[in-house]
Amino acid sequence: MGKIIDGRAKAAEIKSALREEIANLKKKNIIPGLATILIGSDPGSIVYVNMKQKTCQELGIYSEKITFPESIEAEEVEKEILNLNKREDIHGILVQLPIPPELKYILDLIVPYKDVDGFHPENVGNVANNNEENAFIPCTPQGILSFLEDLTDLKGKNVTIVNHSPVVGRPLANLLLNRDATVTVCHVHTINLQQFTKNADILITAAGVPHLIKADMVKQGVIVIDAGFSRVEGKIVGDVDFEAVKEIASHITPPTGGVGPMTIAMLMKNTVKAASLSLE
Ligand code: GUN
Repeated sequence: MGKIIDGRAKAAEIKSALREEIANLKKKNIIPGLATILIGSDPGSIVYVNMKQKTCQELGIYSEKITFPESIEAEEVEKEILNLNKREDIHGILVQLPIPPELKYILDLIVPYKDVDGFHPENVGNVANNNEENAFIPCTPQGILSFLEDLTDLKGKNVTIVNHSPVVGRPLANLLLNRDATVTVCHVHTINLQQFTKNADILITAAGVPHLIKADMVKQGVIVIDAGFSRVEGKIVGDVDFEAVKEIASHITPPTGGVGPMTIAMLMKNTVKAASLSLE
């Protein structure tokens, strides 16, 4: 049976290191500040934003939640972001996704040095050009990478990603290419998915399709990272048939307590980094 990757424990380690950094910033009269914009009332988004705020409180990061109804005029959100861009007490700005398609452009209005989600084209471009030092790296890919770097040398490994979104699959593919992995990006339209998953030394999925990945789709000893999240009959399940695949994998994340806690820890890390950058 494979080892279960403990995301909660790893996130706790990261947060513990951040506490020290935050204490040092406070000595320099800087309290890291994160503004979170929530548009609409998607139940998942409300839960995520509250979890982010709670973790800020835990660590002594100032957090501010700005809520708009789904019907908000783009100009109102625009005004808020331009104001947050100017504020000295706010170092990170995050717009919780999903947002209405006509509002997508507002993400590009966040100044790149406060873009703790790493979605601004300047940050995306720096990651794609293997210039990570000058970028904010998106939180879920950064968390996944941190798991993988603990477990293996990525150079030359066959990595299959099942997701091609700008939030997970695309940045992750670039981060892995920067480390000389051999990367295959699959998605919901991929024909014969098994052909690609079976070849993987490392399989990462974020499709949101319950139990998409079955035991006969992976090879012996694979490392499996499951960032999928669905609710089936009140139970949280990932993309991977965990009970069956854990018998074949060398390491595997559980459906809860795996990638999720790491995403939040990396958001805190990016916020502290943004606050540190403000000193330069
Ligand atoms: N929705 C799902 N994942 C994310 C994320 O990493 N950042 C934001 N802002 N919204 C999300």
